[in-house]
Amino acid sequence: MEEKKKFYITTPIYYPSGHWHIGTCYTTIICDAIARFKRMQGFDVFYLTGTDEHGQKILKVSQEAGVPVKDYIDGIVNELKDLWKLLDISYDKFIRTTDDYHEKAVAKIFQKLYDQGDIYKSSYEGWYCTPCESFWTKTQLVDGKCPDCGRDVQLMKEESYFFKMGKYQDRIIKLIEENPDFLQPPTRQNEMINNFLKPGLQDLCVSRTSFDWGVKVPFDPKHVVYVWIDALTNYITALGYGSDDDSLFKKYWPADIHMVGKEIVRFHSIIWPALLMALDIPMPKKVYGHGWLLFGNDKMSKSKGNIVDPFILCNNYGVDSLRYFMLREVSFGQDGSYTNEAFLKRINGDLCNDLSNLVSRTVAMVEQYFGGEIPAPNVKDAIDDDLIATIDSMYGEVSDNMEKLYIPEALESIWKVIRRLNKYIDETAPWALNKEGNKDRLSTVMYNLCEGIRIVATILQPFLTKSPAKIFEKLGVEDGVLTSFDGLKFGTMNPGNKVSKGENIFTRLDINKELAAMDKILEEQVAAAKAKQEAATSDNVVKVPEIGIEEFEKVQLKVGKVVECQKVEKADKLLCSKIDLGEGRLRTIVSGIAKYYTPEDMVGRSVIVVTNLKPVKLRGILSEGMVLCASDENGKLALITPSADMPAGAEVR
Ligand code: MSP
Repeated sequence: MEEKKKFYITTPIYYPSGHWHIGTCYTTIICDAIARFKRMQGFDVFYLTGTDEHGQKILKVSQEAGVPVKDYIDGIVNELKDLWKLLDISYDKFIRTTDDYHEKAVAKIFQKLYDQGDIYKSSYEGWYCTPCESFWTKTQLVDGKCPDCGRDVQLMKEESYFFKMGKYQDRIIKLIEENPDFLQPPTRQNEMINNFLKPGLQDLCVSRTSFDWGVKVPFDPKHVVYVWIDALTNYITALGYGSDDDSLFKKYWPADIHMVGKEIVRFHSIIWPALLMALDIPMPKKVYGHGWLLFGNDKMSKSKGNIVDPFILCNNYGVDSLRYFMLREVSFGQDGSYTNEAFLKRINGDLCNDLSNLVSRTVAMVEQYFGGEIPAPNVKDAIDDDLIATIDSMYGEVSDNMEKLYIPEALESIWKVIRRLNKYIDETAPWALNKEGNKDRLSTVMYNLCEGIRIVATILQPFLTKSPAKIFEKLGVEDGVLTSFDGLKFGTMNPGNKVSKGENIFTRLDINKELAAMDKILEEQVAAAKAKQEAATSDNVVKVPEIGIEEFEKVQLKVGKVVECQKVEKADKLLCSKIDLGEGRLRTIVSGIAKYYTPEDMVGRSVIVVTNLKPVKLRGILSEGMVLCASDENGKLALITPSADMPAGAEVR
């Protein structure tokens, strides 16, 4: 038996952000339609997706939530899997970068690259401000101090591993220029060559030591592997590369398509090929950088006035409506917009008027004229030839478009046939044939319509996952449903099937009513988000840890009299005061109050001072305490002063 040709397609692995909106479903729905189409074409398909779970950001979020990081991510990953289930995403494997086999393989890959000299140890140099935990470059420093707090900084070198990217620059340029298919659509090639490759590739810093939520570098475990190296290698570790069983890798690699959003094309068309070159692994056949689904001008979900929650849209309007919109609306490769109105119009126009009405009209006529049984064709007419030719050429057009990843065009080729079938009803006027008693011609017309609809439903299966089955049920062809495009030829359906009317596949929506309902959902969402935020704020109040009196007593507070005050040079916010605290000497205290008080305002005032605070140097001045102020949420400051005259040094309790 001839072995099936393989087809390996991947989505990027998703950050477990938990903020799922329809934009995040875009890559996955597109890949799903391609994977299903290829399966029906007879390919042995492997469709990979998953989650990208390491890194500082997710660690921080989980810490803020007070949940162990892996437990925190597990919950989100389950939600994402539920979403893919709802959208009928037919992935063959879901990889998590926290999977044991992946972590082991990443460590092996890192070791190999190090052993062969592609990774070397060096250091990352910067000026470090310990209280702010920040690195600064020399030019960012203000008077040699931390630009944020004005304190002294130290020159620190963070030890890091680097990958010799520069070494592969010329080969990558060649790869992109000589294989126009490798990076698509073509605009992405110019972007990569001109913006990144021609200016020169720097060696890439591929390890971090400041946090440990990642794959540990095997020979130096205080380092974790840079998150993009960890993430990109998922495409091969998912197939068993670097494990004891790499049979899937041998079978499916190289990938046929890495589908990615345009913002991560650089990682996939430069860093990923460089890594593969270093590992001596063949290049993927294609990296495709699609555009964004925009909400207004925004890539993200926080748009006003539109429902972007895929769960709500699917539950209210059906999975097929959302899948259809995503596949059809945006010119593939470019950015496109989502609006509630555009979504509803696609449902009413393409899905309800064109597709659903065609099916229900046809089924109703078979019931009315032939007692529900699809008749055998009989008397032919020249008009049938045109219809049949249009139907028979559809698969060629659709598969051509799919091959080029012209996805909306592929759907358009199907809708051309749907509209042709609707027109055929008008042209043949079956009601008139019935009236004339011309059953011989009427039976041909009804057979042609049913057969056309069966073929349309067959080819729709990769795109819409619910409607084709409903159509087959209405036509009574459940047993004969094709799971491949073989036998898609017109005329292969046997007459005699029993049709059943049932419910319409799509019902016409009152757009204004739906828009109002959508607005209401949004209002409720906004109110719920507000309530959640308020609850979180009030939680915070409770969460500030209580302290005992013994701890409070450690803080010494005294009344001080400001004797002198001046601005600190080149520091807009700072005043430097000399304050009498009844100690027989004046203390120097630097305070960030210059926006609200002038030196003249300060002299002669009584203030409250924390006197036992460790002295710190601010802008080169040793500050020996802190003047207390109240501040509001906008950062407005007001000095705290005793309400009656008190001597310098009076204790505050
Ligand atoms: N974790 C990385 C990918 C690592 S792959 C080795 C990442 N994750 S992501 O969660 O931010 O994005 C996953 C996919 O969703 C990307 O292809 C991204 O472009 C896509 N989208 C997220 N929002 C989108 C839109 N609004 N529109 C279209 N796709 C967008 O990047």
